[in-house]
Amino acid sequence: EKTHVTVHRDKMKEDTINLEKLPKHLAIIMDGNGRWAKQKGFLRTIGHENGATAVKRVIEQCARLGIPYLTLYAFSTENWNRPKFEVDMLMKLLVKALKKELKTLQDNNIKLNAIGNLNQLPSSVRKELTEVLVKTQNNTRLTVSLALSYGSRNELIEATKEICNKVKNNIISLDAIDETVINEHLYTHDLPDVDLLIRTSGEQRISNFLLWQIAYAELYFTDVLWPDFTNEHLHEALEVFQGRERRYGKTSEQLNK
Ligand code: IPE
Ligand code: IPE
Ligand code: MG
Repeated sequence: EKTHVTVHRDKMKEDTINLEKLPKHLAIIMDGNGRWAKQKGFLRTIGHENGATAVKRVIEQCARLGIPYLTLYAFSTENWNRPKFEVDMLMKLLVKALKKELKTLQDNNIKLNAIGNLNQLPSSVRKELTEVLVKTQNNTRLTVSLALSYGSRNELIEATKEICNKVKNNIISLDAIDETVINEHLYTHDLPDVDLLIRTSGEQRISNFLLWQIAYAELYFTDVLWPDFTNEHLHEALEVFQGRERRYGKTSEQLNK
């Protein structure tokens, strides 16, 4: 059985990824579209269009490699504060991409999921999104979660309210609240913890993304701008991930016993 893929990066170097040590859940903060465009003298929106191509590429590669969960930060609650022109354009791009990619998702057995305050999205997006969510809901190869109008603090506030309401109505007892209960009330309730978080564009911050879910994730930052993020960059991140020792509080000696 094949357990490694050899990827030809260039004539000098090959990299090898262990297919048995892949992250189960990969999350990506796709940053740098605006700077990518600016460097080339284009409008920021051209950066977002090229960012969409990189999204398609990474989804297809995760499916090929056999990563079962991929979560992509596409639009944050804070991004509503951008100029109206850019927000409108991002929403239009989203509608277009959802329409265009439904077939690819179906052909590749990929399930689309969405996390965030989806009610805030324009009805044109909600309509297209719902259609893709429903049509791909039974797909099993890879679950792609799009974080849209997503903010982790907002998610935790909503979860807290729901749990408090259940306690108030005697549906659950105060003592029963544990990590599982919290998990069940997050947008990510059907996803495992994040194993690897990648952020592109050189920024080294979390920007209100999956605060609870990354408690023990490995963090990987790269200067590559999101539209330039290729399969080779993904493989590089996976190689680094596979070289890390995840100790979960234990000692190295305990793990290697
Ligand atoms: C990420 O790229 C995409 C979104 C946040 C929607 P940016 O648009 O943040 O690009 P920079 O950070 O300005 O370069
Ligand atoms: C984070 O990127 C959100 C997304 C990638 C969708 P931003 O570019 O909005 O983050 P900050 O504001 O620079 O931290
Ligand atoms: Mg940015």
